[in-house]
Amino acid sequence: MMKSWILAGAIGLASAMVAANPYTEGVDSARVDDEALQQARKQLDHPPAEPRKAPLFVPPFHQRSAEIEAPAVLCLQCHDRAPHRRNPRKRAFLNMHGRWIACETCHWQPEGMSLDYGRVRVPGVPVAEGLIAPLVDGKPVVTLAEEPWVRRLARDWEQADKAARVNIKARLHQPLEEKGPDCIACHDGKDSLLDWKALGYERGRVKELRDNPIARFLQRTEPESPDDPVVRIQLRDLLE
Ligand code: HEC
Ligand code: HEC
Ligand code: HEC
Repeated sequence: MMKSWILAGAIGLASAMVAANPYTEGVDSARVDDEALQQARKQLDHPPAEPRKAPLFVPPFHQRSAEIEAPAVLCLQCHDRAPHRRNPRKRAFLNMHGRWIACETCHWQPEGMSLDYGRVRVPGVPVAEGLIAPLVDGKPVVTLAEEPWVRRLARDWEQADKAARVNIKARLHQPLEEKGPDCIACHDGKDSLLDWKALGYERGRVKELRDNPIARFLQRTEPESPDDPVVRIQLRDLLE
């Protein structure tokens, strides 16, 4: 499932970002335990199936430009643009969110660090739209594919044998969360992870996003346990 490493042309933030990136620093200093290594070994032995790509019967109606290009960021060097498969209720939403939210926003939530979220210029994403990404001291935490750190990693990965890849996988993911936040962490009420206004959304739009009925519905109808995924939906759930 590993894609070839695409070192896309650089624009924008790169140089400002090389300075200090707490995620890559976390990887460099990561100590991985046996459990993480075992998990990585299992995953590399049994990679997830390639997603099926439906052929397009009709060419895209709207003119598309950079929008359909994958942003040239670290995570997408190995993961494809639809990395979420496991949760059938949420995966379509999560994959859609990857178009405007950097993976790190949901998967990098270090304890004890104060994070803001802002828009970041990333190659492959229209500048005006910018990916929503975590900021530490005003500096974005998104690792671009063109950074020397990533090039080094790519080389190491190419040259690595199985055991070394297990180690790299475990270290890369040690600072990350296996799951992202619940939908309602962003979409329910006032205490959103995101400051909608600062991100440039207009007032009416903020209301739609803040009190999002789909996010709330999914939360209310969350199965009680993964072993018992059957959800009994009551009429009330649909009307609230
Ligand atoms: C060198 C390749 C590589 C890179 C780069 C990479 N991943 Fe992964 N990732 C994997 C592999 C392999 C797995 C295990 C199989 C799978 O789920 O795809 C994995 C699994 C995961 C998982 C599931 C939980 C876990 O730890 O197994 C998450 C979440 C994840 N990656 C997020 C990210 C994010 C976010 C980034 C960027 C910051 C990233 N990955 C960068 C290879 C990579
Ligand atoms: C809006 C938040 C959000 C964003 C953005 C996001 N993720 Fe996730 N991710 C999640 C959640 C939540 C889960 C756990 C889903 C579950 O199992 O319930 C998850 C799970 C995963 C998994 C585990 C495998 C699976 O099938 O669920 C991988 C791999 C992963 N994410 C990679 C990525 C990558 C790569 C990106 C960036 C392209 C990304 N995620 C962006 C929230 C997010
Ligand atoms: C990290 C914050 C975050 C999380 C977590 C998150 N979202 Fe979102 N969501 C956003 C942002 C930002 C947008 C707005 C994108 C835009 O229009 O620019 C959005 C847009 C949406 C929209 C489109 C709303 C509209 O009126 O166009 C839906 C539906 C949605 N999210 C549902 C979900 C669901 C379901 C989940 C959980 C699986 C989820 N979101 C998790 C940030 C988040």
